[in-house]
Amino acid sequence: MWHNVPLWPAQAASQSGSVDLLYVFLLVVTGFFTILVFAVVAIFAIKYRQRPGRQATQIEGSYALEATWTLIPFGIFMIMFVWGAAVYMKQVQPPADSMDIFVVGKQWMWKIEHPEGVREIDALHVPVGRDVKLTMISQDVIHSFYVPAFRMKQDVLPGRYTTMWFHPIKPGTYHLFCAEYCGTLHSGMIGEVTVMEPADYEAWLRGNAAEGTMASSGQKVFAELGCSSCHRFDTQGRGPDLAGVYGKPVMLDNGTTVQADENYIRESIINPGTKIVAGFKPIMPTYNGIVTEDQLLSLISYIKSLSQPQPAEQSAPPAPEGNAPNGGKEKVK
Ligand code: CUA
Repeated sequence: MWHNVPLWPAQAASQSGSVDLLYVFLLVVTGFFTILVFAVVAIFAIKYRQRPGRQATQIEGSYALEATWTLIPFGIFMIMFVWGAAVYMKQVQPPADSMDIFVVGKQWMWKIEHPEGVREIDALHVPVGRDVKLTMISQDVIHSFYVPAFRMKQDVLPGRYTTMWFHPIKPGTYHLFCAEYCGTLHSGMIGEVTVMEPADYEAWLRGNAAEGTMASSGQKVFAELGCSSCHRFDTQGRGPDLAGVYGKPVMLDNGTTVQADENYIRESIINPGTKIVAGFKPIMPTYNGIVTEDQLLSLISYIKSLSQPQPAEQSAPPAPEGNAPNGGKEKVK
């Protein structure tokens, strides 16, 4: 059609089609009723206009009529609700084997880091045919990561990780926008998402030599900040042993349990006093303002790597009591 004014962005992710179908359904239903209402208004205005000798009569209620115009819209709205909820639930639940990519938004750029350590600015390279999960945070105000071709938009918040996932199905280059007004250069906070063939992606990763994986730079930060003096892996330290913690439930001193996910680990570094692990004292100082969002993501990658099945299992001794009540290595969703 109009090549410079596309009405519809490319369908570049597996979810694009289902979002479009729902959108078309909403357009058709609302369009139909809009036209119906305006047509009936026009026809009645002519048919029942005031004419000499005609007297209007009062019409009393009709249960059948009222039930009809209640139940039909109710049914239509329930279709919209169930359908929309199904599409939404699929969009917010990343498959377990998704590849991770990390995003930090700031005024006014997107900083992206791959677990292999490759960093990019205002650009995101992903392989076609893989589930990709983005873990995102802002280091200042609220931004929103928006890729129209993927039909995906997710707020990027300060102080909390949000995630989104997609499954690219078509190689190409697509727009990336910030979709939340975030200051003077909001409109310039744009970039490109490049979907590549898996082999090309591997070559691209290798061609952008990184200083080390995110986990290894996290390990460096961990050592530099002296975390290891309390969080020891050999003997019982003043802080919990972090090996095997990620993804597991953690018993707190107030008797409750939390899931050791990204947000919990981040909170434990920024606000260590908020959730104290059972059996430990609230002695950890805050690292708020000392570690950057990028370093926090590296630290989390490092802690996560401590939970991944190691080739030499004995290098990660079992967690101290109270740290991981299940003690086991079973997968927790
Ligand atoms: Cu960032 Cu708008």
